[in-house]
Amino acid sequence: MSKKIFIACDTTNLNKVRKIINYTQSTNLKICYKFGLEFFYSKSGRSFLSKMDKKQTIFLDLKLNDIPNTCVSAVNSLKDLKNIKYLTVHINGGYEMLKTIKKAAKKINKKLKILGVTVLTSFSNQSLKKTGHTRSIKNLVIHQAKLAKSSGLDGIVCSAKEAKLVKKICKNMEIITPGIRLTGDNVQDQNKNRVVSPKSAFNNGATAIVIGRSITQGNIKKNIQKLIKSLE
Ligand code: C5P
Repeated sequence: MSKKIFIACDTTNLNKVRKIINYTQSTNLKICYKFGLEFFYSKSGRSFLSKMDKKQTIFLDLKLNDIPNTCVSAVNSLKDLKNIKYLTVHINGGYEMLKTIKKAAKKINKKLKILGVTVLTSFSNQSLKKTGHTRSIKNLVIHQAKLAKSSGLDGIVCSAKEAKLVKKICKNMEIITPGIRLTGDNVQDQNKNRVVSPKSAFNNGATAIVIGRSITQGNIKKNIQKLIKSLE
């Protein structure tokens, strides 16, 4: 089975996105593209997505987190974007929100998968505590994974450090892990204790990885070759 890789297209520059797509095609890997707030909010971002090749797997990383009615309206407003396969929501939005989002998604597009985001990979135990949480990252992620499962979500977004634990709870769900770096790359704003290499992420049970700056900064063609090699 080919490994699924989501390249995070974190830019507002359409030419940069076209370049990322053109330079990252691979025969061994299933390369897909993730678009987040930066691109989606940009002037031409949304219409670019609506015109993308239907064969591409698009991951829209909007990390919804609001009252159920607002989230459902947001999901409904994506109705025209038929090529989106994945959409993210924050699990800490709660059971009601997650349930209603899943129901709304099913109505607008049967193929749209809803992924629950656990503790962001930029967090450390210390920074989590500052937000008022008393649990450790590990325990909070376990709790959130159970909540996502009971809410009927299709997958979980977590650090690959927690993927093994999450897999025990979410056996048949997708486990998608950001916070990925190729050897020697700077962790930047990600937390150094939650960053993992592509190979280790898959070994830990990730069904797909998300990788951004390790591929999109510098020489994209060389970076993708480095990624392919690292997974051999
Ligand atoms: O450049 P880098 O590989 O760090 O990008 C990671 C991508 O994954 C970003 O687009 C970020 O928004 C997203 N993400 C994350 N941590 C999460 C969920 C999503 O870094 N927990």
